[in-house]
Order: sequence, then C-alpha cells, then structure tokens
Amino acid sequence: MRIGVLTGGGDAPGLNIAVYSFIKLAERNHEVYVIYHGWRGLLEREVRRITSLDLVDFAFSGGTYIKTSRTNPFKDEERARLLERNVKELGLDVVVAIGGDDTLGAAGEAQRRGILNAVGIPKTIDNDVFGTDFTIGFDSAVNAAVNVTESFKTTLISHERIGVVEVMGREAGWVALHTGLATMADATLIPEKQVSWDSVVRRVKEAYEKKHWALVVVSEGIKEYEGPRDEFGHARLGGVGNELADYIEKATGIETRAVIPGHIIRGVSPSAFDRTLAIRYATAAYEAIENDRFGIMVAYSNGELTHVPIVEVVGKNKLVSGYWLRLYETYWGDLN
Ligand code: F6P
Repeated sequence: MRIGVLTGGGDAPGLNIAVYSFIKLAERNHEVYVIYHGWRGLLEREVRRITSLDLVDFAFSGGTYIKTSRTNPFKDEERARLLERNVKELGLDVVVAIGGDDTLGAAGEAQRRGILNAVGIPKTIDNDVFGTDFTIGFDSAVNAAVNVTESFKTTLISHERIGVVEVMGREAGWVALHTGLATMADATLIPEKQVSWDSVVRRVKEAYEKKHWALVVVSEGIKEYEGPRDEFGHARLGGVGNELADYIEKATGIETRAVIPGHIIRGVSPSAFDRTLAIRYATAAYEAIENDRFGIMVAYSNGELTHVPIVEVVGKNKLVSGYWLRLYETYWGDLN
C-alpha cells in the first residue's frame, strides 16, 4: 500500500516519535510518504517518500519535523475536489492523520466521501479530543507548565507576591487543572467551571494572609474574560492572565505578577509518557491498517489501546467532567 502521514493543527511534543515509529513499522511492507504541512500538503502536493532513517535524528525532539498547518481541505467544494484529485493522482491508499479535532474531522470527512482511507491518531496539548483519555503532548505540556509554575512560585515566595499563571487550553481546562493540582494552586480557573473573580480575590487574599504569597492558575479559555477576542472568539495569548492579575492587584492592593508560558509548554521535548503513548498509538495505527480497519481513531481508554470511529469523536470537545470535575470541586469548588 501507499500510505501518507500528516500532522495538523498546533504542534505537540511526541509528534515526531509517532511519525517515526509508524514509518519504522510500515516501511517493512509498504511505501510510506510524508505529507508536509498537514492537509495543506495534499492540496499543494507537498508529499515525499521517506524512510525512518531520514527521521531518526529528530524523532525524539519536540515540534513536528513534517510541519503543520490548520488548513481545512473541506472549507469549500473546490478544495475538496482538489484533495480528491491529488489523492487519486498520488495513488495514496491510506492517510494517517495525526491531529486534534479539526484535523481528525477532515480525516473523517475524507473517509465519508470515499476520497481516502483514514486512520487518526489523537494529539493536542489541550487533551480535549473526545473518545480518548490522553492525547499525545498533554503530559509533556503539563510537566513543562508545572516546572514553570514552580520557578514562578520561588520568586513569589521571595517577594511575597501574588502570581497568576495562564496556560493554554482554548475549550477545555485539562492543562490548567493538572497544573493547578500539581502545584497546589490557591485557585484554579477552567472554562468548564463558572467562577466569580471576586471570590477568586477573596480566596487569594485569605491564602496570602496565611503564607504571604498566593498562586492562581488560569486557563486561556475561561468564559469570564471580558477583554478582546479574535474572530473565532479566542482570547489573545496573555489577555486572560494579565487581566486577572490586574484585577487581583487592584482589589487586594498586593503586588501581583502574571506569567504566560504560552507556546513554551508546547515546544518542549516529549516526556517518557508521551513517548510511549506516541509509540503505542503508532503501533495501533499500523495494526489497524494491516487489518483493513479504516475510518477509525486509535484511542486510549482505561489503560487499554482501542479504536473508535472517527465520526463518533469529531465535532465535540472532551471537557473536564465526572471524577476530574469532582476533584476540581474538592479543592476550589466554591469560587462562585
Ligand atoms: O493546539 C491547541 C492550542 O495549543 C490551544 O491551546 C491554543 O489556544 C492554540 O493552540 C494556540 O495556537 P497558535 O499556535 O495558533 O497560536
């Protein structure tokens, strides 16, 4: 078979390992091609035959060696026709799409229209892909966010200040929740939980009175932010963290600083967990292809590798809920 591999959407630690280990398996009995720049590469025919040896030097670094884009090949029918023509002319039998909801959504649509056979692998530091417990990149990003926050805490303690850390997470608060828990923040704000900033101020003040410093972790996607947003309704990077820090400083009269790790937590070297997750997903994707199972996303559920139909997981975000929301409430529940 001729198999193409692409990565789409925001990059994430572990992508290179997923591509590398998939190619290492698939090149034994198939022709493997990389598609540069996600779905855009299929529209622009940026496709190259590759071997695992071409990738081995980069396999364990962050980012994505085969580049990425947020191009949606189904934005209009002209693009969709171009995609279909290119897939046919390139002779691709299968495309392995490694991405979040948008990238997987395009894979599902291509499969539905009979343009290609798709196998999806979930990745995003946000961990918000439905149908899987973990996405590639989440664990590394949380580890990086915890390291940044611990450094920040050190200087908050020295200067007896309040600190606000804003972490990525547009739709879901997984990164903020895990960072807040792992650093035992005094308050954590996530999109899934409505809070009042005055309660946050009260909580932070109480904490400050006891230990002379306080820490707040906030997800960029919280609904309460009233500052500028882009055309998709997303807050500008740092907008939420800075606004919250200003609000707390004005309300408490205590020096407050904001730290915005932003893309730094996305560009780190993959953690051991993400490395093995990427390898397990790549293996499961290879096995699915060998068994002619298409239109599926490989997933991790309750400690087991499984498959789920792509159509069942796209178009919805996996939000913080159930056990994780109860855990959130145990620590920060009464912030409204
Ligand atoms: O990949 C998802 C994500 O990390 C979001 O949490 C964040 O809002 C977004 O990417 C930022 O994307 P960009 O790299 O386009 O600024």
